[in-house]
Amino acid sequence: MNNAKRPHPYQPLDGGAARLPWLWLGTWSLGGEGFGRVDADEARNLIALAWREGIRHFDTAGFYAHGKSERLLATALKGHRKEVFLSTKGGLCWQGREVRHDARPETLRKACIESMQRLATDYIDLFQLHWPDPSVPLAESIDALRILQHEGMIRYWGVGNLDPEQVRTHLPEGARIPHQVHHNPLYRSDATLQAGRENERAYHCIVSPLEQGLLGQSKTSRGFEALGKRDIRRRNPCFHSAAVVDWLRVFQSLSPSLELPRAGLITLWLLASDGVDAVVPGPKSKAQLRELLAHLEWIGAQEKNESGGIECAALARRIEAFLPRQLWRHLNSTSF
Ligand SMILES: NC(=O)c1ccc[n+]([C@@H]2O[C@H](COP(=O)([O-])OP(=O)(O)OC[C@H]3O[C@@H](n4cnc5c(N)ncnc54)[C@H](OP(=O)(O)O)[C@@H]3O)[C@@H](O)[C@H]2O)c1
Repeated sequence: MNNAKRPHPYQPLDGGAARLPWLWLGTWSLGGEGFGRVDADEARNLIALAWREGIRHFDTAGFYAHGKSERLLATALKGHRKEVFLSTKGGLCWQGREVRHDARPETLRKACIESMQRLATDYIDLFQLHWPDPSVPLAESIDALRILQHEGMIRYWGVGNLDPEQVRTHLPEGARIPHQVHHNPLYRSDATLQAGRENERAYHCIVSPLEQGLLGQSKTSRGFEALGKRDIRRRNPCFHSAAVVDWLRVFQSLSPSLELPRAGLITLWLLASDGVDAVVPGPKSKAQLRELLAHLEWIGAQEKNESGGIECAALARRIEAFLPRQLWRHLNSTSF
């Protein structure tokens, strides 16, 4: 597949040399904790494949696999620092098997320094508040990020998991602050996306696009029964919902007719949705990354006779027209 000349319809946050600035690689599962076994060589090969395919944005967090995901990126991308965009986060930590918030300014600064060490870099492209901390005023956490930016430790600051009110109160108009939003057909965040779009407050990076595997084609798509005892996805309510199981049964029966892997299909659905700027999936193998990339063939075919490329809204209309009516309705029918 050669994407070298392909124009992309979605606005890059910071394109650089990226051929696919709107497709970021998430590395939570690649750290090898909580998502079943991940072979370290396979993880490095997957990152190398992403690089060859033109992906230059890599998302991680100090919280992921106790820092192993960040270390993996440092190894796999060695020698490419200037060409890649590294996105990481602070504000969450582990206390035994429990997740704890800590987004006090001094903790965020410490987390940023530790991330730089693990990522083997002296600057971070994007440093985000992972989640708002209920015991710290959001403005204080955000001010801490602004100071890190002012000091040159980070190029951009961003946030994750804000509600619509927090978006309107804390993200300045016109600033297009990167915001990681959990959104997919099973877990909708339309109101948050709408709030971020109003007056261009946020640049939306969609995380967990496959609802941690339920919307893919691996055994995880069978649901809770397929998860190992220590799998962190056992905490995800979607894996316990009878309504989700019913919805998935219909989805799985409607999707094979498309000859597009489900991961590629969901990526197309997201690109056709209002407010999406970048998609951040977390494949665990090269085969899963290829499933995601399959939709690029379809986009390429749409752009074949369009010398200037296709703009976002036009591409969204074509995606809607391409998906069978019944499937489109089903993808938009969730209310869990
Ligand atoms: N800011 C935040 O709060 C936040 C929260 C969550 C995630 N994130 C970011 O978003 C990224 C993606 O989220 P995620 O890992 O939770 O969810 P995801 O991309 O929805 O799901 C990833 C899991 O789905 C399964 N899968 C099956 N087929 C796949 C395919 N073709 N492509 C990708 N995955 C496939 C894999 O598990 P099996 O092989 O075991 O089935 C994989 O580990 C993370 O790596 C992280 O960077 C951020």
